[in-house]
Amino acid sequence: MQAGEFIEGLRRDFLLTTDDLKKIAEDFHGEMRRGLAGGRSSLKMLPSHIDCATGGESGDFLAIDLGGTNLRVLQVNLCGRGKARIERVRKFRIPESATHGRGEDLFDFIAKSIGVFTKKTGAVRRMGFTFSFPFEQDGAASGRLIGWTKGFSATGVVGRDVAALLRDAFHRNSVDKIEIAALMNDAVGTLVAGSYTDRRCDIAAIFGTGTNACYRERAAGIGKLKKSPADEGGHMIVNIEWGNFDRLPLNRYDLALDAETINPKCQIFEKMISGMYLKKIAAKIIEDMILQKIIFGGRIPARLADDFGTGDMSAIELDRAKGLPKTRSILRRLGAANSSTDERKAIRDVCNVVSGRAARASAAALFAVVTWIDPGLADRHTLAMDGTLFEKYPKFKGRVSAALKDLDPNKSSNIRMIHAKDGSGIGAAIAAAVAAKKSSNLFCDMSIRGTR
Ligand code: GLC
Repeated sequence: MQAGEFIEGLRRDFLLTTDDLKKIAEDFHGEMRRGLAGGRSSLKMLPSHIDCATGGESGDFLAIDLGGTNLRVLQVNLCGRGKARIERVRKFRIPESATHGRGEDLFDFIAKSIGVFTKKTGAVRRMGFTFSFPFEQDGAASGRLIGWTKGFSATGVVGRDVAALLRDAFHRNSVDKIEIAALMNDAVGTLVAGSYTDRRCDIAAIFGTGTNACYRERAAGIGKLKKSPADEGGHMIVNIEWGNFDRLPLNRYDLALDAETINPKCQIFEKMISGMYLKKIAAKIIEDMILQKIIFGGRIPARLADDFGTGDMSAIELDRAKGLPKTRSILRRLGAANSSTDERKAIRDVCNVVSGRAARASAAALFAVVTWIDPGLADRHTLAMDGTLFEKYPKFKGRVSAALKDLDPNKSSNIRMIHAKDGSGIGAAIAAAVAAKKSSNLFCDMSIRGTR
């Protein structure tokens, strides 16, 4: 078989027509409905007990953001009027031993990093904690991990309250006087940050190592809430955990990839879309082409499976120069010393097909969430987006917009995507501010009651 014929077949395997997208959005609604009611669903629809921001929140707060390869610790100044400033930020690379070892080691690592950071920040002690995994919450400052995603596997954490685990680690490591005022998912943090600056912002999505989204829901619409909607304040953000959505057409590469992961049959949507997996799907396809002796004379480059990254895919897709020199050097690094221009073009096509499907599937899910809130798309909605795929992958945003237009040619202009850079960290600080205000109101209420 020739490369051209292979790529044509591949395009068919990865094609999502507008009707497919409509079907995905429809199925997504069904899963949202069941998830909110507490029924069986691939969408966990987790109540966050945190609402969008008003823009008026102010003060100095700490924030930590744990979720991918790094832990980020930030000091954020909220100026009110929708303005936030990151005063200091530091990244700590999470050691393998912490993500795959004992949970205690992971939390010791977090506590120590915060200890190092706060040596310089002094008085700021109220903290928002962004934890980018699925957890169940009864209130805004605690949450039990449901299960790890994105390759994490630290032991002794699933089923436990991660805020309490961090507090224990603070004690063990003599990190004093830090109060975890709010705990939230990164998508939730991003929405809080987006709504701080834009009152039309009611959805957030992450397209990074993993993928997820959340939106603002009426408390009365969340059937599984234990407290009455009024006690819950009328509205709250729901963490969809859409990475686990599974009503999707899968092809042989998706199935092969899933079977190799540590969580088969879970996070199916994430495995189709996010940075952690796109490169693996592309590597699988390239390997298949090689095994079929379509390229590289049947020899698989030694470092293809382990070293090929999403950054490489971006660079290859951007490689428009004659002879694709950038692609040539990436292939050399992976162990393919000699490649022809046609072979390099075929690799570029593979990247294009895989990332193109990811963008279209993402658009279907985004469309489902917006039309859940506003079925006729009558109002304007701002979507706060973050993650390297959204920020850096060539044409990702444009392809999502184009697919949204396919889904609703007349009204898709009501959907505006903005890049909420550092949203999850800033959002954590804002949520800590909201919690601080609530606890001081509560204190006022109690003291007023006490004087009566
Ligand atoms: C994974 C996590 C989810 C997180 C997302 C983006 O899907 O399960 O909680 O929001 O990655 O980081």
